[in-house]
Amino acid sequence: MSQVIATNSEISRAAAILQQGGLVAFPTETVYGLGANALNPIAVAAIFEAKQRPSFDPLIVHIAEMDSLAQVAVTADTRVFDLAQAFWPGPLTIILPKSDLIPDIVTSGLPDVAIRMPGHPVALELIRQAGFPLAAPSANRFGKLSPVKASHVKKQLPDVSCVLDGGDCTVGLESTVIKILDDGFVILRHGAITSLMLSVVLPESKRSYENMVLEASPGMMKSHYSPEKCVYLIGIHPLPKDISEGGLITFIPKVDQGFKLQRHLSQNGDLREAAVNLFGLLHEMEEAEVQFIAVETVPETGIGIAVMDRLLKASYRFHTTGHYHE
Ligand code: TXA
Ligand code: MG
Repeated sequence: MSQVIATNSEISRAAAILQQGGLVAFPTETVYGLGANALNPIAVAAIFEAKQRPSFDPLIVHIAEMDSLAQVAVTADTRVFDLAQAFWPGPLTIILPKSDLIPDIVTSGLPDVAIRMPGHPVALELIRQAGFPLAAPSANRFGKLSPVKASHVKKQLPDVSCVLDGGDCTVGLESTVIKILDDGFVILRHGAITSLMLSVVLPESKRSYENMVLEASPGMMKSHYSPEKCVYLIGIHPLPKDISEGGLITFIPKVDQGFKLQRHLSQNGDLREAAVNLFGLLHEMEEAEVQFIAVETVPETGIGIAVMDRLLKASYRFHTTGHYHE
């Protein structure tokens, strides 16, 4: 694991770039982000350009302290403060009515804005030194694998000149995105903060809005987080006959299965460890001399739900009859 942490002078230089309307890639505990001043629409436009991201996909606004919440969102709902108390800084994004200070380009014209306080010291220090919240999507080209180390960002976005290094991401999957409803909450994207963890803080009955997801969150496409090489999920997609040129990612260590390269997500079946390792192993397979990537499924409990969500999205575009949860 690389644990390089950006120095204070590197963070100050990055903050100056942001103040001039520039872009900075920075570490968070989930994945690396590509940040710009969330209050400056021209600076935010550069994010969409650098990522080749469609303008209908809104961005998350990152804050470093609770006092900044009132600047970016309109809320008096005490449940938001309960959630913040329980999970911020951390991998939870909350959708709230936006304030007038947030330009439309950030929310793709939606009346709501996504807010998160990231749990990485470099991210928090960068936001503090910049002096404004940062709009930041994951620092990858649109639809591709999210970066979980600085070198992944440099590979995918070579034109971004300022990449702060914060070592390997300790969560490894994008944040849980939720919307609070009158009588509960809905998860728009699964992540390390699970439905069960949320239910402890928001004990009201959780309504299920499965069909609302696409409408409420334009970026939740079926195909996403996708490597260039064909991804097969074992037991879901039939594998090619000749596996000797393929790569295999198993859940736990297994004897050699006859693939060219074999890796495992977890030493002993720990789903958190699997989440941390997933994108790194997919990046490794992408760079290795293998022709396709086969991945074992993992149990869909706790953070395993988010791991399976990313695997189904990574494989979706390769299989016209993919078994995606509709
Ligand atoms: O962990 C993370 O959340 C990372 C780090 C950098 O913070 N960020 C991230 O951003 O994954 P991005 O842009 O790759 O994904 C944000 C997701 C998108 O799918 C988007 O559609 C959804 O959040 N989203 C953002 N604003 C929204 C809004 N106003 N309403 C509904 N969904 C929104
Ligand atoms: Mg992303």
